[in-house]
Amino acid sequence: MTVGIVSEVAPGERRVAMVPGAIAVLNKTGTQFLMEAGAGLRAGFPDSEYADKGVRIANSRAEVFQSADVVVQVRSPGANPETGAADLALLRKGQALIGFGEPLTALDAARSLAERGVSFLAMELMPRITRAQSMDALSSMATIAGYKAVLLAADSLPRMFPMLMTAAGTVAPARVLVIGAGVAGLQAIATARRLGAVVSGYDIRAAVKEQVESLGARFVVLDVEPAGAEDKGGYAKAMGEDFYRRQRDAMGGLLAEQNVVITTAAVPGKKAPVLITREMVERMAPGSVVVDIAAERGGNCELTRPGETVEHNGVSILGPVNLASTVPYHASQMYAKNIATFLKYLIGKDGQLALNREDEIVRETLVTHGGEVVHAKVRELMGLAAPQAVTGV
Ligand SMILES: NC(=O)c1ccc[n+]([C@@H]2O[C@H](COP(=O)([O-])OP(=O)(O)OC[C@H]3O[C@@H](n4cnc5c(N)ncnc54)[C@H](O)[C@@H]3O)[C@@H](O)[C@H]2O)c1
Repeated sequence: MTVGIVSEVAPGERRVAMVPGAIAVLNKTGTQFLMEAGAGLRAGFPDSEYADKGVRIANSRAEVFQSADVVVQVRSPGANPETGAADLALLRKGQALIGFGEPLTALDAARSLAERGVSFLAMELMPRITRAQSMDALSSMATIAGYKAVLLAADSLPRMFPMLMTAAGTVAPARVLVIGAGVAGLQAIATARRLGAVVSGYDIRAAVKEQVESLGARFVVLDVEPAGAEDKGGYAKAMGEDFYRRQRDAMGGLLAEQNVVITTAAVPGKKAPVLITREMVERMAPGSVVVDIAAERGGNCELTRPGETVEHNGVSILGPVNLASTVPYHASQMYAKNIATFLKYLIGKDGQLALNREDEIVRETLVTHGGEVVHAKVRELMGLAAPQAVTGV
């Protein structure tokens, strides 16, 4: 089986889906790799390092699409609205594609992949079960985003993070609040703590209290959190507007005490909840910084503009997008390990891809197959009938 590695063509994307170090995961499977020249360069992986691992360098991007049984990408067409259509045209019937693809929102891309007869496996849909943990690319990327968000905040803040006692007086530590203590939030808390800030964490899911405290941060309770705010996948459930209003009322005072607020609150497949209003920002001290990691999902702050920094009454509101791509070396390393582990899981005894749709990991991630959209949730969003029960390949 040949796996194709191509350059990422989404604007500003610096990651690559496979790195030389992750190839060893597939050593005993007989898998061959074919790569577009320079695919890993922007992430810090030159062609020579791939060649050392036995990867063949193709003459063109088109050759990779032509020859590969499976193409691995970071941003497949659904996650690349700007330039992804060109790749759609290169994909072939019977070919498999693995990558991020915004399957719950980019429905047109899923339709096109089905029409082309591609078997598309979306990394966003990896189930949150223990045996899939090493394939969970959303967690890998969230780890990077949480880390980088703190660095952006520290860079924008007109203060230092740590407490310092110097001959020129004492410098008070920065006060940092992290809203949403999932994977990104916990990493943000850990990073802000390492820089010496006084950190608080808040989440609608009370279950994360111990994790927040184990990182040396205070867990904030607003007394509005309902029981059962968590679904069976460990994600937050969407709440009614009445809840979000009460939550904002309770949070206003807390926000006014912070130098930095990092927001990471997301609900899968939905627009991010607005947790910080304009009025709440106006209560914050000038020089404070909000970093809204949920910017791509619509933002947790009313004033966020994705990809921009908004100044409002002296408060900076950063809406970074694709933070993982700003740390491309380690983002690619982690993503590639997730992809390689996933591929190994999917490869049958004969060395070919075996998509057993009775298996939970395959069923949950497989969006299109055999000319159809097969994923139950995606079909539901398209208004299609539930998929027929299937057996085997
Ligand atoms: N394999 C596994 O078992 C596995 C893998 C990865 C993550 N997880 C768990 O899943 C959970 C969520 O992961 P995630 O980081 O991808 O989540 P996410 O990116 O969907 O959301 C980030 C955080 O925002 C919180 N949030 C949502 N609405 C909120 C609101 N109104 N107010 C405050 N906070 C709000 C969520 O509870 C979550 O903790 C975590 O507990 C994580 O440990 C499990």
